[in-house]
Amino acid sequence: MRKVCSICLISLFVHLIFVKSLNPSLDDDVLGLIVFKADLEDPDGKLVSWNEDDDSPCKWKGVRCNPRSNRVSTLVLDGFGLSGKMGRGLMQLKFLSKLSLAKNNLTGSIGINIAQLTNLRVIDLSENSFSGPVPSSFFEQCGSLRSISLANNKFSGQIPDSLVSCSALGVLNLSSNMFSGLLPSGIWSLHGLRSLDVSDNLLEGEIPKEVEGLNNLREINLRKNQFTGPVPDEIGACALLRSVDLSENSFSGSLPSTLQKLSLCNALNFHSNLFTGEITEWIGEMGSLQTIDLSKNMFSGAVPNVIGNILSLKILNISENRFSGSLPASMVNCKNIQILDVSRNLLTGFLPTWVFQLGLQAVLFSENKFTGSIYAVVTSSIDVSHQNLQVFDISHNELSGEIPSDIGSFSSLRLLNMSKNSLIGEIPETVGKLKALYSLDLSENKLNGSIPSSIGTCSSVVSLILSQNSLSGQLPVAMAKLAGLEYVDLSSNRLTGTLPKPLANLMHLVTFNVSHNQLQGDLPAGAFFNTISPSSVAGNPNLCGAAVNKSCPAVLPKPIVLNPNSTGSDPDSVPQILAHKKILLSISALIAIGAAVVIIIGIIFVTVLNLRVRSTMSRSAAAVPLSGGDFSSSDTTHTNSGKLVMFSGEPDFSTGAHALLNKDCELGRGGFGAVYRTVLGDGRSVAIKKLTVSSLVKSQEDFEREVKKLGKIHHPNLVALEGYYWTPSLQLLIYEYVSGGNLYKHLHEGEDEDGNRSSLTWNERFNIILGIAKSLAHLHHLNIIHYNLKSSNILIDGLGEPKIADFGLARLLPMLDRYVLSSKIQSALGYMAPEFACKTVKITDKCDVYGFGVLVLEIVTGRRPVEYMEDDVVILCDMVRGALEEGRVDECIDERLQGKFPAEEAIPVVKLGLICTSQVPSNRPDMAEVINILGLIKCPSESQEESDNN
Ligand SMILES: *[C@@H]1O[C@H](CO)[C@@H](O)[C@H](O)[C@H]1NC(C)=O
Ligand SMILES: *[C@@H]1O[C@H](CO)[C@@H](O)[C@H](O)[C@H]1NC(C)=O
Ligand SMILES: *[C@@H]1O[C@H](CO)[C@@H](O)[C@H](O)[C@H]1NC(C)=O
Ligand SMILES: *[C@@H]1O[C@H](CO)[C@@H](O)[C@H](O)[C@H]1NC(C)=O
Ligand SMILES: *[C@@H]1O[C@H](CO)[C@@H](O)[C@H](O)[C@H]1NC(C)=O
Repeated sequence: MRKVCSICLISLFVHLIFVKSLNPSLDDDVLGLIVFKADLEDPDGKLVSWNEDDDSPCKWKGVRCNPRSNRVSTLVLDGFGLSGKMGRGLMQLKFLSKLSLAKNNLTGSIGINIAQLTNLRVIDLSENSFSGPVPSSFFEQCGSLRSISLANNKFSGQIPDSLVSCSALGVLNLSSNMFSGLLPSGIWSLHGLRSLDVSDNLLEGEIPKEVEGLNNLREINLRKNQFTGPVPDEIGACALLRSVDLSENSFSGSLPSTLQKLSLCNALNFHSNLFTGEITEWIGEMGSLQTIDLSKNMFSGAVPNVIGNILSLKILNISENRFSGSLPASMVNCKNIQILDVSRNLLTGFLPTWVFQLGLQAVLFSENKFTGSIYAVVTSSIDVSHQNLQVFDISHNELSGEIPSDIGSFSSLRLLNMSKNSLIGEIPETVGKLKALYSLDLSENKLNGSIPSSIGTCSSVVSLILSQNSLSGQLPVAMAKLAGLEYVDLSSNRLTGTLPKPLANLMHLVTFNVSHNQLQGDLPAGAFFNTISPSSVAGNPNLCGAAVNKSCPAVLPKPIVLNPNSTGSDPDSVPQILAHKKILLSISALIAIGAAVVIIIGIIFVTVLNLRVRSTMSRSAAAVPLSGGDFSSSDTTHTNSGKLVMFSGEPDFSTGAHALLNKDCELGRGGFGAVYRTVLGDGRSVAIKKLTVSSLVKSQEDFEREVKKLGKIHHPNLVALEGYYWTPSLQLLIYEYVSGGNLYKHLHEGEDEDGNRSSLTWNERFNIILGIAKSLAHLHHLNIIHYNLKSSNILIDGLGEPKIADFGLARLLPMLDRYVLSSKIQSALGYMAPEFACKTVKITDKCDVYGFGVLVLEIVTGRRPVEYMEDDVVILCDMVRGALEEGRVDECIDERLQGKFPAEEAIPVVKLGLICTSQVPSNRPDMAEVINILGLIKCPSESQEESDNN
């Protein structure tokens, strides 16, 4: 490679010299630039205009010529994406005055000697990857140079002493390299130097008193080196200095008062050194200062009063020093101040009111000894707009009083840290107004009361730390709305109640510490809470669940009594007797229904995940080709691609074939796939279900055996399976078509022309409940568990009879384990029995009874099993149960039925629904019992007449 290239180069030279001899007007510049280009790689083709056959380079990209001499005067190739080496071709450009190759990817050492470029004034090689030492010869005879930048490369070694020969130098930028050793002493005699930046190197030594020679200096940046010693008094001679940055070195001693002569200076940056001593009156003379950063030193004494004279001050950072006394009141004059960081000092006195009057963006007072009431300070400046304040940290002081509710007017606040003080009272409701709040820390105070539910409107919160207070009451459910929450610490308070189950929705939790409270009950079930560290929940004797290694005790059973006579207003009136028949149905552990919700919410995640997976699955399934020829009119047909079987032996399916996957005919989608309507040759409609879980379906034999079994099941309340179609990649189930839509639509969607929701009467609802019960009893009798009950799976025919769809489909899956059941079958939110989440409990047909119970409550109340309200998640079973306990159960009955239902039927039906949703499967009645109970509720002798009246 290398050899080839040098051969190219030699031939190029030969060629150029040859051309040149033919054309004497071609100057050295073309030659020099072409040779320079030959050393470069130009992936972006920026230099294509550089053509060796041109007479003049003056029109080439990046090249400018002096109009009089027609020689190249500037070469500016910044950001051209060039790599390779900087070759000697440049030395031909005898009239070059500006060379700028910044922001490329040039490597190697400096290959040129600028001594020959006697006109060069500006050289900028910054932001490349040059390396190695800068040769001493580089700077020889650099008398014309005004500006040098080698910043942001990988140069190393000492800065050559020859630099001193650049006597006209105004700008020297060597920052961000690996230069080491001492600065060449001659540097202090470059009287023309206006800007000196050697920051971010490995330089050492002291600033000598010769610094006074730099009396043109506007800017000096020695940041991030290893300089030592004091700042000499002579610095005061550099009277034009505007910016002094000595930060991140090991400078020591106290600051010289001669700094006061730098009256034009607007930035003093001395942070992270070893400075000591006091800041005295001199600083008040520096009237142009905008930024003062003295942080991370060992300054002591008081913050001088004269700081109030610096009216242009914008940023004052004196954090991590030993300043003492109180902040001077004169600071109220610093009207431009935006950032004030005095944290980690020994400051005392009251929190000054002016911090709220100046419209500051950041106020950091942490780790001092400020005293007094925060309430008084904030409320006394109430009429002032707090809209600018973004960071307010007064943590670790000796502040007292209540948190004022005016805190809600700090509408831009992102960080609020009031931890480690002696604050009392409650967390004000107004925190909910802090929409920008990202981090809230009120830990280690004496706050009491409950956590306001308005916290749920702080929608940006990521970190919520309220530990070590005396907070009581329940965790607000609204916390579950803080979707970005990552760090939660509520430990060591007096919180009671159970953890709201919707907390399991918080996807980004990293820590959730509720240890040492008085919480009880089950932990929310869900990704994070299933693996929560035991220490995060320790010290809550009544918490239970796997994380605390303690099974949840059966909660005290509270009997719910089925009494058609009772109005339900008195649930505590010990066992009552079911009308006439003297049947006592006392169900223990019903109370635990609430805990079941834990598990349901856990399933939300699986559900949401699955919705995604499923939508991709069904999209790809829709692409399966299906030709009309696959459907012949024979009873049983084998073609190369598929097999159609109609159980009734019915012919002519061909009309429907093309419509099968026609989206217009799509009736809906369920856990097993999309359903389409199609019309048979005889004009009869059928519903066709395309199974999307195809990859899970068993072998053809297993599939056919199971489907044939299902085809034999006939019941007036079950949707009949009439046939199927099988290919390895596509399975269709052909069902009876039910015209009246599904129960979900009837309950939650249907609207007539007037916009009224079509409303089922009480008797229709009761009949639907009874029909569902009968069909489930039939299925259970045949040992078929439905697994997937939900209102959208209950179809209503033209006569108002319910028909259950999708029964038995779980049998088509190759494995019937819990994972498949809860994730693949996709049982709808709110209907799934709690035992699905509990590995040790066997799943029986009682899981259908649970789903049935939820359906009963849904039918009677007209509400969805889980509803998301503005500020809450309502779990239907919980809500109804609570209402029953409080004697308000009739308020839960669907408002469309109000005044039109017999309470002596409706209330026992509600109770039946609650019993069916018992936490413990064995406490649920079986479906045959349910039918009996329903019969008793609809007692013909008495209730019939009454309900007829309604
Ligand atoms: C610079 O060059 C080096 C070595 O050729 C290469 O690895 C790197 O990706 C280049 N960087 C840029 C920004 O082009
Ligand atoms: C020095 O160069 C670096 C990189 O180009 C730049 O960021 C910095 O501002 C320059 N320093 C001065 C004082 O101009
Ligand atoms: C003040 O200086 C300290 C130490 O240098 C730094 O950590 C802190 O971020 C600075 N404060 C502000 C508000 O920038
Ligand atoms: C609040 O301040 C305390 C004490 O200064 C500190 O330990 C804690 O980390 C801060 N909290 C946050 C969330 O930054
Ligand atoms: C049911 O109510 C009727 C009329 O209010 C009353 O006569 C009857 O005794 C009640 N039966 C039961 C079992 O409470």
